[in-house]
Amino acid sequence: MRPPLHPEWIYGDVVPPSKLALRMPSYTLLTDDATAIVRALAARDGATFPFAPPRPAPLSPDERILAVTTLNTECMGCHYIGELPRERAKTEEHLGPDLGRVSERLRPAWVSGFLPEHAHAGATPAVVDLLFWLRERTVLPPPGDEAKVPILGLGD
Ligand code: HEC
Repeated sequence: MRPPLHPEWIYGDVVPPSKLALRMPSYTLLTDDATAIVRALAARDGATFPFAPPRPAPLSPDERILAVTTLNTECMGCHYIGELPRERAKTEEHLGPDLGRVSERLRPAWVSGFLPEHAHAGATPAVVDLLFWLRERTVLPPPGDEAKVPILGLGD
């Protein structure tokens, strides 16, 4: 999820020594152990387990244009959707995770709580809903064309 922790995704076999620092170890957990940890964390938070698929609210055309404009202006400078942009990953220290995977990894309540500190003005309810409609195949309109070009490949 976090490109800066995976220099091999970016550089392949020739990772520069300066990028080798490992910040978090990888744990080789068996599926049962990983499930037990997830269950314990869900129980601690009183959250459902297994993970119920999020059901974001449908957005009106105007809300959608506003929310995608926010993503383009406030978020996509650090984030990406779909395939890792390798050239950006080489230079951008703050490259954030793939927003196309929010719907499969995060809960709406967690995102609503996280965004205000993380993204200030971008933390509107419509932005949270739009994040849960994004998929890896989603293509946003180019900045400035949000009212003219539709968002392609949103979730059903
Ligand atoms: C300055 C760069 C930057 C900007 C601007 C930014 N983000 Fe992030 N974002 C990050 C980074 C880096 C992370 C990963 C944080 C971590 O490793 O815990 C992240 C994490 C997230 C996550 C959690 C993703 C996950 O799968 O774990 C969401 C959701 C998110 N950002 C949404 C947004 C939205 C929406 C906006 C705009 C309104 C935004 N971000 C603006 C850098 C940024």
